[in-house]
Amino acid sequence: MTLGTAGTYPVLSAEEAITHIQDGDTVSFSGFTPAGSAKAVPVALARRAREAHAKGNPFKVRVLTGASSGYSIDEALAQVDAISWRGPYQSDGTLRKQINRQEVEYADMHLSHLPQAVAEEFLGQIGTAVVEATEITPDGRVYLTTSIGASPTYLKYAQKVIIEINRHQSPRLREMADIFVMPAPPNRYPIHIYEPLTRIGWPYAQVDPRKIVGIVENDEPDRLGDFSPPDAASLKIADHVIRFLMDEMRAGRIPPTFLPLQSGVGNVANGLMSGLGAHPDVPPFMMYSEVFQNSLVDIMAAGKLLGASATSLTITPDKLQQIVDNMDFFCTRIVLRPQEISNHPGIIRRLGVISINTAIEFDIYGNVNSSHLFGTDIMNGIGGSADFTRNSYISIFTAPSVVKNGRLSAVVPMCTHIDSTEHSVQVLATEQGLADLRGLGPVQRARRIIRNCAHPDYRPYLEKYLREARVGHIPHDLGRCFDLHRNFLETGSMLPEVIP
Ligand code: COA
Repeated sequence: MTLGTAGTYPVLSAEEAITHIQDGDTVSFSGFTPAGSAKAVPVALARRAREAHAKGNPFKVRVLTGASSGYSIDEALAQVDAISWRGPYQSDGTLRKQINRQEVEYADMHLSHLPQAVAEEFLGQIGTAVVEATEITPDGRVYLTTSIGASPTYLKYAQKVIIEINRHQSPRLREMADIFVMPAPPNRYPIHIYEPLTRIGWPYAQVDPRKIVGIVENDEPDRLGDFSPPDAASLKIADHVIRFLMDEMRAGRIPPTFLPLQSGVGNVANGLMSGLGAHPDVPPFMMYSEVFQNSLVDIMAAGKLLGASATSLTITPDKLQQIVDNMDFFCTRIVLRPQEISNHPGIIRRLGVISINTAIEFDIYGNVNSSHLFGTDIMNGIGGSADFTRNSYISIFTAPSVVKNGRLSAVVPMCTHIDSTEHSVQVLATEQGLADLRGLGPVQRARRIIRNCAHPDYRPYLEKYLREARVGHIPHDLGRCFDLHRNFLETGSMLPEVIP
């Protein structure tokens, strides 16, 4: 292994850098969503895998990131069959298919658990970490870019490190970073975060300079696609959630200063946050969330969002430019933390975070499936949804009541996979309405969910299921609880006689 001497890190081409990575290695890349992802090295690795495969030689690596990664890592490597194992989260179409064909082993994890699992070596010894930064100093201070994610942990535990110095990313991004790596138990003490913007760490991650095998220079921006405007169903969902939050405030359960919000990613979440930002009765508020997304830039600029803690700036290039151009304003209002801290259960509980995430489906008792289709196929993964849901002050899940032109209902008798249980889920909302489940027993929950959230086409079926189910604390019919799913797989519609 070639060791870099402090202060004299060799500058390598991406092709030279990947000679340090071998078939079967575990490679951890920076990136939480496409934000801050390593870019040049994984693409070079994909080229090498293609060449090796063309010669009949094996070449696959085990891939870790902070969360999903975007084109340069998951898509580039999956396209050439170069991934043997993946964790802790992905959202790539090609990789998803490989996972569902059992060609790639996938460990779908709570994102707050990842750094500790790495430290404990449950995920194997990390051979090489590839981390995007704007600068590395001779004494090993690494200034990260648009995400922190698990990079500080990877820098600490990897045997070798390649730094991608990205000249496109603003060096001022470090002004948002607050990096702190938790020691191993039993040497942990309370984390002194008492409001979303509290800073407890340093603007850089630390690496032992002797582990650096080289730096690779690059100037590619984060590749983030545009968000489409929210559709009619999303706007209705946002309306229901906003009305609920306003009612909670009037009832005194949310203080007049409001409570920090967490919001999932995607178009519904973006629409919801825009709606909250525009609502005249919603007071200026804070976020303690996982990703800082597009809609938040405008509501922060408008003074409605007072501050945000996150682990990544998952925003389009125009919005990132807006932040960089106005860094004096934004760097005092955004803190980027390692995912172990942005998603830390204890802090989420302490701050009284209100979580709002998206479900694939939920059952009539309030169990939520965020990750799998029909009990078998992964969509993306659990992500940070359960880190927040289980520990929040109020946990909310949203979903359109039906998808695929009504052929799939989001409300089902029993979920085919459960990520957040009825014990953690408090409020459900679809475009049909909202069900506040707090304090209700299972049958009362079921009645409310069916009445308020299910699509009218599916209500009679769900009511009949509840009526005819075997009586118990949670009535069910084990012979029929998955009939809707089976119908869809066999006929293409959950209720073929009603919705062909
Ligand atoms: N049954 C089967 N398929 C369903 C379905 C259901 N009940 N509901 C949705 N789908 C399908 C959609 O049709 C779509 O398939 P397509 O790509 O073939 O069109 C796919 O699932 C994704 O649905 P979409 O409406 O595009 O989802 P989204 O972009 O709003 O994302 C999740 C929804 C749940 C997949 C996404 O939020 C997620 O991965 N969540 C887990 C992680 C998370 O919560 N992260 C944030 C925490 S900080």
